[in-house]
Amino acid sequence: MPTTARVLPNSQTLLDKRQVQVRRLRVVPPPHVARPAPFLKWVGGKGKLLPLLRPLMPQGKFRYAEPFLGGGAVFFDLRAEDRLEHALLCDVGRDLVGACRVVRDELPALLARLQAHETHYLSENEENRALYFYAVRNRHPADFAMDDVERAARMLFLNRTCFNGLWRENRSGRFNAPHGRYANPGIVQADKLQAAHVALQGVDIRQADFRALPELVQDQRVEFVYLDPPYHPLSTTSSFNAYSGGQFSGKAQAELADVCRRLDRMGVRFLLSNSDCGFVRDLYAGFDVGTIRAARSINCKADSRGDVDEVVVRNYVN
Ligand SMILES: C[S@@+](CC[C@H](N)C(=O)[O-])C[C@H]1O[C@@H](n2cnc3c(N)ncnc32)[C@H](O)[C@@H]1O
Repeated sequence: MPTTARVLPNSQTLLDKRQVQVRRLRVVPPPHVARPAPFLKWVGGKGKLLPLLRPLMPQGKFRYAEPFLGGGAVFFDLRAEDRLEHALLCDVGRDLVGACRVVRDELPALLARLQAHETHYLSENEENRALYFYAVRNRHPADFAMDDVERAARMLFLNRTCFNGLWRENRSGRFNAPHGRYANPGIVQADKLQAAHVALQGVDIRQADFRALPELVQDQRVEFVYLDPPYHPLSTTSSFNAYSGGQFSGKAQAELADVCRRLDRMGVRFLLSNSDCGFVRDLYAGFDVGTIRAARSINCKADSRGDVDEVVVRNYVN
């Protein structure tokens, strides 16, 4: 646009007028509610796969549960489409669940704490930013008195400023990703948090292991469950699934398949994502097992590039 405008003076005048109008519009913006989306960057997040997952979901509205919440890409999408009559969200991650509750219930206090982190962090040079990051990282909730809001602000700050924006804990449940050195990591993101706050109103958010799912589903009359567990590794070198301080073993995958069979017997529809391998296919033999093509991620073959198939298991067809 600027090049064309220089060659044609009349267009330049028009462009100037339009820019004035745009500037005026910006001063008084129309009411705008952002579409809800994950407010945490999460390894294994399903954001990019939504166009492939949406057609696999049941039609219409339903009472919903998601036992491996992570960033909650599928929940937020369903909420944005007004498909949920009720939602139950669970994860084992203590910090994750706490942060979701704080976004739901205490947003103004959270925004204030994040603003304080951002002001401090952005005012420092690169070296001091790293020092600040490690000071926040080392101040672990297990060792220091910390209210829920401070704990949530700590998680969001670390998630936005760490290398690659992930949440990774060691075996003792301590976040251990290194500093990321991003020029402007966007620590507050008030619009995103406001949209998530609205989407989470009335939602039941619990710290729970997936093995507790059938009882919760029964109590809350859930009709459809989306399950996105840590993927079964395709090779021993690709077994990164330590979101919450523990590994998700083959035994856990087998117990999860039992949970799905229980849901099926209860008449509850489920859709499950996992890596495409014989072990997973055997666990879900008898159900509808399809594949979708996903961009290669940290969970997939460490020795190959390009896209990989993931399995999608369902106990219903649309
Ligand atoms: C692949 S991620 C989910 C990603 C999510 N679908 C998204 O779009 O961001 C798997 C999640 O399972 C959680 N998790 C691991 N073991 C679990 C368990 N035993 N019970 C419940 N959640 C568990 C992890 O904390 C992690 O958040």
